[in-house]
Amino acid sequence: MEVPLALPLPVEQLRELITTDSSGWRKKNCVSLMDHSAQQIRAVLELASELKAHDLQRKSSVFWDYPRTLAMLFQKSSLRTRVSFEVSMAHLRGHAIYLSPDDVGLGIRESVEDVAHGLSRWVDAITARVYHHSMVTGLATHASVPVINALSDQEHPIQAFADLLTLQEHCGPLGNSRSIAYVGDGNNVLHALLIGCTKLGVNISAAYPTGYEPAAEYVQAALSEAERTGATVRLTNDPVEAVRGAEAVYTDVWASMGQEHEKEERAAIFAPYQLNANLLSHAAPSAIAMHCLPAHREEEISSEVMAGHNNTIFDQAENRLHTQKALLLLILGL
Ligand code: CP
Ligand code: NVA
Repeated sequence: MEVPLALPLPVEQLRELITTDSSGWRKKNCVSLMDHSAQQIRAVLELASELKAHDLQRKSSVFWDYPRTLAMLFQKSSLRTRVSFEVSMAHLRGHAIYLSPDDVGLGIRESVEDVAHGLSRWVDAITARVYHHSMVTGLATHASVPVINALSDQEHPIQAFADLLTLQEHCGPLGNSRSIAYVGDGNNVLHALLIGCTKLGVNISAAYPTGYEPAAEYVQAALSEAERTGATVRLTNDPVEAVRGAEAVYTDVWASMGQEHEKEERAAIFAPYQLNANLLSHAAPSAIAMHCLPAHREEEISSEVMAGHNNTIFDQAENRLHTQKALLLLILGL
C-alpha cells in the first residue's frame, strides 16, 4: 500500500506550524533520538510530509527572510547527507558550508571545544559526521548553536527520520500495526531505527550474528520505550525469524565507514544475513525492502532485491531532503 500524499497546507498555515514550535525543537541539538520525544519525531515527519507535498507540486513553500547558515563538518565520505543538507539550505534560502576533514582537522589541528566556539560565532547551526560519537556530543556541549549528528559510530538519527517517513508513506500510519525487520550489522543505523520505531510504537525485529549485536544501551532504551508504546522488539540471530511477517525489511552495509579493514572477515560472517528474494519471501507478501545506501550489491543486498525495490529505496534517499529541511526549520524557526 502506498499512502497518497496529503494536499499541502497553505503556506501561512505551514509558517504557523513552524512558528508555534509546539513540539519544542527550537534551538535543540539532534545528537541522539534517545533525547527526543515521540511528539518531536512526529513533528519532523508531519512537517516533512507537508514540505514534500509543496515540493512535488512546485508550490512556493517556506523559507527564511534572513539567510541562515549551516556548517557541515565531515570526517567521513557522504553523498546523501551532504547533498540533502546543501539542497535543504538552498531551498530554505540559507547557505551551507562544507568542511572536509582536511579543512578542519577536528580534534587534531584544533580541539573540538575550540572548533565549537569558533563556529558558534559565525553560523546558525552545525552538523557533523564523525568517527567517535564523543566528538558530536563534545561539539554539542561547547557550541552555542544547535548541533545535528550527521552520523557517528553510534547513531545515525537523521537517517531514521527518512526511514520512518518512507515506512509511513509505503505501509501506512506509524504505530502498533506497523512492523519492520532489520538484518545485518547491529550498527549506528540500527541503533537509530530501534529508538525511532519503539518511540512511535512501531514493531521492530532485528537479526545479526553473535558478536555484532546492537549496543546494550540502545537495546535497553528501545525495550523501555517499547514497554511504554506497546511496540514489540524481537532480537535474534536468525534472519528468517526476524523478517517473518514484516512489512518492511531493512539492511545496511556489513562494514561501516572506519571498518573497511574488516570487510572480508565480515563478508563471511554476514553471508546468511543477505537481503535476497529467499529471505524476503518470509516477510509479508507485499513487503518493501529498505536500505539507507550506499548499497553493495551481492553483499548485504542481492542485485535482484535492489532492482525490484529501487523505487522505495530511492524514496528513502529522497526523504532525507524533506525530513532534514523540516528538522532545520523546527530547530532554527523562521
Ligand atoms: N545514508 C547516508 O547517510 O548516505 P551518505 O553516507 O552518502 O551520506
Ligand atoms: N553504517 C553505515 C551507514 C552509512 C550511511 C556507516 O556508518 O558507514
